[in-house]
Amino acid sequence: MPSGDKARIAIFASGGGSNADKICAYFETHPDISVELIVSNKAEAGVLKVADRHGIESVYISKKYWQHPEIILPVLETSEITHIVLAGFLSLIPDWLIKAYKGRIINIHPALLPNYGGKGMYGHHVHEAVKKSGDLISGITIHEVNEHYDEGKVIFRKEVELEAMDTPEEIARKVLQVEHMYFAQVIEGWINSQHEHA
Ligand code: GAR
Repeated sequence: MPSGDKARIAIFASGGGSNADKICAYFETHPDISVELIVSNKAEAGVLKVADRHGIESVYISKKYWQHPEIILPVLETSEITHIVLAGFLSLIPDWLIKAYKGRIINIHPALLPNYGGKGMYGHHVHEAVKKSGDLISGITIHEVNEHYDEGKVIFRKEVELEAMDTPEEIARKVLQVEHMYFAQVIEGWINSQHEHA
């Protein structure tokens, strides 16, 4: 993307959308970066209400359409989306979408990758596995998305200290708090560095 152009983000999410909420608030008055669209693959996802609260357009796209670029790409093109942020999006991004947005899709994972990553490792499954292992350090990883679950280039990692008696719910709460502190800023830095190198 040529420097000087504005970045227009689509957030993809499947759940409550607390990260989406923080990201929308962070970029509300940003001069060069805006959240233009929220996409969910769950009809009842709380993130759709987050979109309403922020006055951001949202769309629910059911599972059966995700293998149809001719349906999804025009949705993104109409909103002139330049970057995609996965904030608790719990499906694999299809190859054609990764190709169309090469190097412009970012994901947050609620553990220190490569540990506790891969297919089936999302949300509470991750925190339950951390608890079972006895590890007293977890964390967050923000990374670019490629064709494999949780394997793209790492942009940012931050450790989160745990206590031996923390339940999986407590681990989730501690990790989510750190996600909220860093995700929007990391997105901003990532987009800005792309502009500098364009
Ligand atoms: C976040 O903890 C995020 O890291 C995780 O889902 C949660 C979404 O919370 N994502 C994954 O597990 C992806 N593998 P939110 O809907 O409140 O933002």
